Order: sequence, then structure tokens, then C-alpha cells
Amino acid sequence: MKSNLLAMVAAVLVAAPSHAETTLTVRADAPGARINPAMWGIFFEDINFGADGGLYAELVKNRGFEFPEPMMGWSKLSPSKARGQLSIRDEQPFNARNPHYLRIESEGGDLFGVANEGFRGMGVKKGEAYDFSAQIRKVAGTPAMRIELYSADGTLLDTQPLGDFTNDWQQRAVVLHPRETDAHAKLYVLLDGKGAVDIDFISLFPENTWKHRPGGLRADMVQALADMHPGFLRFPGGCIVEGSVLDRRYQWKKTLGPVAERQLLINRWNYEFLHRPTPDYFQSFGLGFYEFFQLCEDIGARPLPILNCGMACQFNSGELCPLDQLDSFVQDALDLIEFANGPVTSEWGGRRAALGHPEPFNLTMMGVGNEQWGPHYFERFSKFAAAIKSKYPEIQLVAAAGPEPADDRFKQAWATLPGMHADIMDEHCYAKPEWFFDNTHRYDHYDRSGPKVFMGEYAAQSVAIVSTKNRNNLQCALAEAAYMTGLERNADVVRMASYAPLFASTEAWQWTPDLIWVDPLHVTLTPNYYVQQMFCLNRGDEVLPVEGGTADRSLFVSAVKDDGTGEIIIKAVNSGEVPLEVQLQVAGVSLKNGHVRSTVLAGMPQSENSPGEPTQIKPVETGVPLAGGSLTQHFEPHSFTVLRIQPD
Ligand code: AHR
Repeated sequence: MKSNLLAMVAAVLVAAPSHAETTLTVRADAPGARINPAMWGIFFEDINFGADGGLYAELVKNRGFEFPEPMMGWSKLSPSKARGQLSIRDEQPFNARNPHYLRIESEGGDLFGVANEGFRGMGVKKGEAYDFSAQIRKVAGTPAMRIELYSADGTLLDTQPLGDFTNDWQQRAVVLHPRETDAHAKLYVLLDGKGAVDIDFISLFPENTWKHRPGGLRADMVQALADMHPGFLRFPGGCIVEGSVLDRRYQWKKTLGPVAERQLLINRWNYEFLHRPTPDYFQSFGLGFYEFFQLCEDIGARPLPILNCGMACQFNSGELCPLDQLDSFVQDALDLIEFANGPVTSEWGGRRAALGHPEPFNLTMMGVGNEQWGPHYFERFSKFAAAIKSKYPEIQLVAAAGPEPADDRFKQAWATLPGMHADIMDEHCYAKPEWFFDNTHRYDHYDRSGPKVFMGEYAAQSVAIVSTKNRNNLQCALAEAAYMTGLERNADVVRMASYAPLFASTEAWQWTPDLIWVDPLHVTLTPNYYVQQMFCLNRGDEVLPVEGGTADRSLFVSAVKDDGTGEIIIKAVNSGEVPLEVQLQVAGVSLKNGHVRSTVLAGMPQSENSPGEPTQIKPVETGVPLAGGSLTQHFEPHSFTVLRIQPD
């Protein structure tokens, strides 16, 4: 019995190959489709504290006391000797659109006031400066204030005085310099002495925002986007475009102008998942449409706004705007094009100029509806399309193909929308890694004469869609990379693609997996991020056919040529358990004295990055000369490799 077992083990050991060998020929002599310069992009939605509590660098949660529970995020600070009262009021507000404010009344004795906890942690860094500001008016006495930062363990990090208040609302400001770095600091707003003040719009921003813009975006998060070099930025979503009911839809015009006047709205992800409720999630719109366009310009991404089409989310109420009342929705779309591209003499071009950007934002495309389906959508889309195409025929219209990549809703969309001026169909897919590996040939047989494809939302789900157990592991990233080789090979049909969602707060997420995880102090890049980045950085300009491969289909390959450098770029996923030795040939160019640079993302399939171990999975770059014109490439198991071959 024992010897039988040993024989079996020995047989397995003998049979298991240490590596596999194959040959690949890249046909540089037979170039194919041109690749859209904006092929690989990003999808932004305010989900998982992506904007408020994330990209928008405001550190104070509920700064205007407009949450339905107006003291949410705030706590009373009342040392034993202090006597005072807090009340929420709305008479003669500083701002009628966000009318609530806090009254602090102190009878003296000790400092008395409130603390703000930030967005599940207020991240502050030693050596950096933080701008505190608030609207304040005196109500009684001659009160002074102290503005303080405390660490989570109760250490005073900085304190600054503020006084000489007037009876009218006035913006007051001080700068805080924390003595230590802390991920869970708190802001204290205290009355010092007897008296009373009204206070509103209490704000704390790092001075070190992206491009040092006051009230701007979190620098490290934008840097992660800039480092990707995305071709486009889709915003503001996602289901947030639709709203669970129409009143809660995203309305771009309400996101412009002074931030204090942008009306707070409950975030749909506040209450979407019973298993991940987020009662403190609201949209301040501090990151509004002007800032989106500015962000696109900053990072060199083409803007792709997605607008509500007169329908609330079909997974929620599906509320419809009656067709005879759709005009204002359609007008919003037309006005947005004018806002982005119109001359400064036009109404909305003038608004853009007044906000500081007389030059156009060069909008070339727009999505009508997010993840819609069915006849109600089609009749609404056709009204938008008629109006937009007659005024702006150059704008490419993106139409929704539903939430799944192959169901009846999808088929109906593809059967109907191409006849309605849909230039690009927005396909979505959240599925297991196997689906992505199995569907790398999905687009090989698409109609070349129909609308183009925007793979607008996709991500491999290690467990299942909306499972809280999904992981951003290497296995999922490789599945996405393999699938992307199929998108690239079909670049004549697939014009754009974006992973979704983009950001997630480790402290307050609703949806996983996500491309980039952040905590109050750090940004963690996932293996999936690196896959996206490797495609962005190695986009190329024309597709090159590849011949050969492995019989077991563990190797997924695509190739392109970079017109600027003349380099041949090969992307290869080895999803198998064994290394692959690949004899690479490039037909049509000489490689005798060439050079190859390789970037490899590899590891164990279940490996992932975390704030504690942010670089477990990270691309590694090497460069070697080409010896004698041929190239034998070793592809590690569970790896994604990009080779940039510089011919002679
Ligand atoms: O990416 C998360 C959500 O998935 C998007 O908001 C929605 O469009 C899709 O269902």
C-alpha cells in the first residue's frame, strides 16, 4: 500500500512539467486597427467615500450641520467646570441653501464647544499646514475662541486663538500646524469665556492639496490617478447619476459656484446596502463639475460626463420623468456641452469663464443614462440623441447596454440603440475571474460597422458581485489583464475601457473590490491598479496580430506598435502554474541590435497589497539587449508582463 502511494507521488512528480515551451510571432509586417489614444481610462463615482471623505480634501464631516441628524460627526466638549449649551438654528442663516448652523453659548468657567471626528478619522501630518475656516457671528458677550487639533490619544497637536467677532456673519480663518502625524485626529472648536456665537461651514483643509489649490483635492489620491496616465475620466458615476429617486439624482448645475451654496444631498450609497449602511455619507459637491473638468485637464484625461436620462436607478424606484417633461433634463445636457465648449460670450461658456477657465474643456463625448435598460430608456435616449445631435453633431453619444454583458436587457439595447444615434455602447461586467479569462475573444466577432464599445465598468469579483468578501488579489488582476488583451486586439471595436469602482476608504467602504484603497493618511495601490497602469503606459498606436500560443490557453497575448518610438509592445498574461519559455519572433523588423525592456507583475494568485504591506505585488522593471536578433522570454507563473522591444 505504502509503496503504491510512493509510486503514485513519484509519477505525479515526473509528470508535472517544470515549464512549458511555445513560440509566438508578432506580425509587425501586418499592422491592424488604430488604437484610440483615450483607450484606457478611469471611472469615478462618489462611492466608498470616494469624493466626500476621499478625493475632496475637506477634513470636517458635516461642516454645515445639514445632515438630518445635525450633530452627526460632532460631539460636545464640556469639561467639568464648563457650563454651556449647543443648539442648531436656522434664523438668518449665513446661507439659505444650507440654512442650519450651530449656536455655542458658554457661561464661562472653562473652554466649551464641539469636536469633529472627520470622515472616520481626520488624517493630519506633522510638518504640514491646515487651513481652518468658519463663518462666525457674535450673539452675546465678547467671546473668544480656541481652535485646536488633538490626536486620537488626546495629545494637543496645535491650538490657535480666534476673536473680535462681529454681529454679522464673517469668514474667519487660522492655520494649524500639528506637532505629530495622526490618522484619527479631531478638530476642537471651543468658546473661551462667557458669551455666545453662531458658527457655520466649519472647514479644515490641508494646504498641501493637489496643485496647492485652496479647498482642493487630496494630493496623494490625485497623484495616483496622474501616475496612471488615464486616457479619459468618466464621472460622476455610476448609479449616483441616477439617484434612487429622481429628486436624489446628480444635477451638475447644482455643483458649481461657491461651495457653501452647493446644496447637500444624501449619498445613495448611504442606504443602498443593508449589510454596509453608511449613515454619515452625504454629497457636499465640493468636488463638482467644474472641478471634474479641471481634474481631467490636470491629468491629461478626456472628460466623459454621464448624465441622468430622466430615470432613477432601475435597481431602486426606477422612477420616470414623464416624456412630456423631459425637456429640462435634455436642456441640462445641451447646457453642459455649452459649459464645457461654448464661447465665453455664451451663457454657460460665460459661467465657465467666470469660474476661472475661459478656455474650453474640449468635451467630445457624453453618456446619456448610466446603467439603464428597456423601452423606457430607449424612448428617453432617443429624445436626448435627437436634441444633442441636431445642435452638436460632433459629440459622441454613449448609450447604456444594461448591467450585464449578455442578458436580454443587453441584447435588447444592442438591437435598439444603434438605430438611435448611439455612437458608443457602454457595457458593464462584474463577474468571477473565470468569466474574464473565458471571454478574451468576446469582441472578435462583433459587427465592425456598428457602434463602438465602451467597457465602462468591469472588475473581476473573487467571490461574487456585491459580496463583502471580494478581494483585490493578483488572480483577479490577471483575469482583467487577460481580458484587456482581448479588448486591445479588438481596438477597432472597443474604443474605451475603465475598471470600477475607483476609490475605497478602508474605513467606510460599501463596495469591494476597488482599484485604489485609501485611509486617512495613505494610498494603497492594488494589483488591479498596476494592470491598468501598465496598459495606460503601454497603449501603443496600432494593433499587431500575434500568431502561436499554448494549447491549454494559459497564455493571453496582444501586441501593438508605438508610432512615436517605433517600439513593439507585447503584453502577456501567464495564468498557469508553470513558467513558460516563449520563443518570440517579430516579423517585419530586425532585432539584431535591439533592446528589450520588461515590466512584470507576478506573485501568488491570492496575494494582495494592504496599507501594512503596500508593495507585495508591484511591477518590476528590467532591461536587456537582444542577443542575435531572437528573444526567448521567460513568463513566470501567475504573471502579467509587458515587453517593449526596440528594434534596430
Ligand atoms: O461600480 C459600482 C456600481 O456598479 C455602479 O454605481 C453601477 O453603475 C454598477 O451597478
